[in-house]
Amino acid sequence: MNYKTVVFLLLCCSQSLFAQINFEVDVLNKGAAIQPDMYGVFFEDINFGADGGLYAELIKNRSFEFHQPFVGWLPFGNIAVKNEAPCFNRNPNYVRLNETGLRRGTGLENFGFRGIGFQKNDDYRFSFYARVVNDGDKKFVVELLGSKENVIGKGELTVSGNSWKKYTTTIKSGATDAKGKLRLILKTQGEVDLDHISMFPVETWKGRENGLRKDLVEALFELNPGVFRFPGGCIIEGNTLETRYQWKNSVGPVENRPLNENRWNYTFKHRFFPDYYQTYGMGFYEFFLLSEDLGAEPLPVISCGLACQYESEECVPVGDLKPYIDDAVDLIEFANGPLDSEWGKVRAEMGHPEPFNLKYLAIGNEQWGEGYVERLIPFLEVLRNKHPEIKIIGTSGPTPDGEKFDYLWPKMRELEVDLVDEHYYRSPEWFLANAARYDSYDRSGPKVFAGEYASHHKTRDNNLRAAISEAAFMTGLERNADVVQLATYAPLFAHVDAWQWKPDMIWFDNLNVVRTPNYYVQKMYACNAGTNVLPLTRDNEIVAGKDSLFASAVFDANTTELIVKVVNASDKPQEINILLKQLNQSVANTRVNISRLHANEPGAVNTIEAPNKLVPTSTYVLAHEKGFKLNALGNAFYVCRIKIKE
Ligand code: AHR
Repeated sequence: MNYKTVVFLLLCCSQSLFAQINFEVDVLNKGAAIQPDMYGVFFEDINFGADGGLYAELIKNRSFEFHQPFVGWLPFGNIAVKNEAPCFNRNPNYVRLNETGLRRGTGLENFGFRGIGFQKNDDYRFSFYARVVNDGDKKFVVELLGSKENVIGKGELTVSGNSWKKYTTTIKSGATDAKGKLRLILKTQGEVDLDHISMFPVETWKGRENGLRKDLVEALFELNPGVFRFPGGCIIEGNTLETRYQWKNSVGPVENRPLNENRWNYTFKHRFFPDYYQTYGMGFYEFFLLSEDLGAEPLPVISCGLACQYESEECVPVGDLKPYIDDAVDLIEFANGPLDSEWGKVRAEMGHPEPFNLKYLAIGNEQWGEGYVERLIPFLEVLRNKHPEIKIIGTSGPTPDGEKFDYLWPKMRELEVDLVDEHYYRSPEWFLANAARYDSYDRSGPKVFAGEYASHHKTRDNNLRAAISEAAFMTGLERNADVVQLATYAPLFAHVDAWQWKPDMIWFDNLNVVRTPNYYVQKMYACNAGTNVLPLTRDNEIVAGKDSLFASAVFDANTTELIVKVVNASDKPQEINILLKQLNQSVANTRVNISRLHANEPGAVNTIEAPNKLVPTSTYVLAHEKGFKLNALGNAFYVCRIKIKE
């Protein structure tokens, strides 16, 4: 053996000696309880998240109430918009078709939300409200069109009588097309009035008629969310007070829920979405129902009397807040009240006599300044008195530090809100550097709700780098579950052809869903939440960034498993020995189930064309007597589960 070989072998030897890192998990030292609702989702109607997204309605501007009644429609022949003797008083516009024997006939086409998605052999429930103006039956042909104007499905309806009635037919699609449209033609001469022209896939989530897109709800369901925050976000504030989200307008018969402008109809990089409105077809009743379906605690957010502070200075004088406070009190009644109460009765009439068991209520979204504090006070006075059982969430403003944050946190403490909503949209570097953020937080007073967060890579892509930094940061949420009690990534959904903001957790087009790496991080946390925090250390220190490694551990009392989460945010692999301290038993040869999210390329993303490029994979190792070894690849997030005897 020559001199060079000896040096080389010595180097290899010393590297492997130093390369292995020990993490120690104090298995018997069970710490803070992890709230069962800790990891959840935050839904906002941004990026066509509701209309054109989760809400399965396929017809845009179904009630002709947009600022221009024919937005979304192409009328042909003789058509006029009218509002005398309407079918629905809160959505009074309707159209009058007058067929006089024109060659093409009289009718309408609808382009949906950047097209209508049709699946071959799926059924679509088409309906409208109609009345004949004079006399005689009037026949309509309804056509599903593919993107090349080809007819891929056909139905017929005959309208009779002079009073408004609902007509329904089901049409099968003969082809799959993500960019189809609908055509409706009046075939009989004479005049007919039409309103609320609607079409849903028959197959919605749980088959409900005013239903939600099944594939999108399934993506939420798989996330196993513990809490469901809705309906925003800035939309609860509105660009103006008039256009704030008013939950009372979002309940009752769907046809008569008045249309509202969407706060996301413009602004981001000056892109303008004049066709972005809220039908409220998916309103508060549907939100509560969805929370229940998902097994998540509902967490509504309501206006505190400030319009979106990024857009306006409009505010309700503190003395005039009563209607806003009434909205809060009535919302609790809508969710939880008895059947003989005014709003409990509305809930029951909509189909849910049982209460929704609302426990949380957020007053205001991302507000800031004294204006917020002075408005929150009267809400608290009334709510604490009438509903001490409800946990109230206040805010710390739009950023996780700085003047607004430093002003609001002590105020929230002073006002004794139950949780403080923190928002952070920051770089991956910030997320990595802040994994220990909560280790030194004040343990007294309000708990933290990380209500909106996402790692913003410079490309703003939902790539692995961003996801890994979130996973690293979340080890700090988990370790501090005594103070951080709820966490929701934001925003949740984005339509690939109609987004205002990115990154977003789930992307979709009219037919397909893309689960991002960020989605999988959330899922891996929520499905492996555990019940109690366990101390995990390296050389007696928490693992929050040294050698780009991050880790945390929990115990799951339901399964008696130890769950260890490890993030390697560097490019290099790292061998880690996870030692189970204080365990008076050998775990030799016990199976350790391992889920891994990894790619060699940190910029890797999932797309409509390749939705499964980056998905978690499963493997296992066998434990040694005192723990197990994890060969942690670079750019990887691991969840390891091992059963132990208690
Ligand atoms: O999640 C997108 C927006 O970010 C929310 O509407 C708002 O609360 C925040 O500014």
